[in-house]
Amino acid sequence: MAVTVRSFAKINLGLAIGPARPDGFHALETIYQTVAAHDVIRVEAAPGDGIEIRCANPLVPCDETNTCHRVAARLLRHSKQRARLAITIEKNLPVQGGLGAGSSNAVAALFALERELQAPLAAAERLRIAAEVGSDLPLFLLGGTVLGVGRGEQVYALAELPAIACVLVTPPLAVSTAQAFRDWDELMTNAAKGPSLTEVHASVTLSKFSRSAFEWLSYLDVSGVPVEGNGDRAETPLLDLVRAGIENDFERVVFPQYPELRDVKRRLEREGADFASLSGSGSTIYGLFRSRERAMQAARRMSAEGMATTVTETLSRRQYRAQMFVS
Ligand code: C5P
Repeated sequence: MAVTVRSFAKINLGLAIGPARPDGFHALETIYQTVAAHDVIRVEAAPGDGIEIRCANPLVPCDETNTCHRVAARLLRHSKQRARLAITIEKNLPVQGGLGAGSSNAVAALFALERELQAPLAAAERLRIAAEVGSDLPLFLLGGTVLGVGRGEQVYALAELPAIACVLVTPPLAVSTAQAFRDWDELMTNAAKGPSLTEVHASVTLSKFSRSAFEWLSYLDVSGVPVEGNGDRAETPLLDLVRAGIENDFERVVFPQYPELRDVKRRLEREGADFASLSGSGSTIYGLFRSRERAMQAARRMSAEGMATTVTETLSRRQYRAQMFVS
């Protein structure tokens, strides 16, 4: 029996890049938020050996570098099973678009394979496999609103937000995350006027982000409802995002290289987005809107000018889990 799952995308509600670590990765802090837009993954096991990845999108590698292939190989090894696995990826989300699609595909495939092979993993083992394959995988083990620290792979479930309408705009360009991190290092070295101060500068960036995130999250109680007694400051969690100064550091290196991305962000703001930002290292820019109607209207006007837009909404942890399995 095949198993089919939805593989949801994420956006980053702010992302602060800290110092480069001895292992070559950067310390970072970010708030991940899953959204309803998704790919669909189907897995099927048969007697035999081998892992076959099928995807009609030519930008998706179907060899052993595919993130689904990598988790499948690890699951087989861990569970000491032999099987011939076919994993089919129906791609709707952009490739290298900052929405974590490749990471999400891998986690969705992992959940589906555990069911298909009847090989349930302990939570800690699932986390180990996910973190080994990439920094952005573990967030998809939780879903909803998630704090990411370390290199992004240490994840903590945060209080849920109410559903927020979201427009994703994906310009037709792929941004290399590794290159964006290198560009960030160069920017920091210049800003700190010397390598010796770079680390101090980067640490300050992290502590500033955690203050902003704390300020924003303290407006909300555990169920994502604005805390009473905060007056008009807490009217909408969206405006508070802006007030708290939540930002994505990648904008500082990606926007100068691709000015059209900054234009898309400004356009979303002009179209009424309460908060707009680059997601991850891009190229997707998202806008959060007070209502689905406003989001639809903005998307209609922008698509009429040839922009690739998707209207979606934020997905709570409960929804993420309830809607993952199709069959
Ligand atoms: O973990 P992931 O495969 O997503 O990382 C892709 C690349 O991005 C890494 O090889 C590394 O160069 C860079 N990276 C980083 N710091 C992070 C995450 C990723 O420098 N926290």
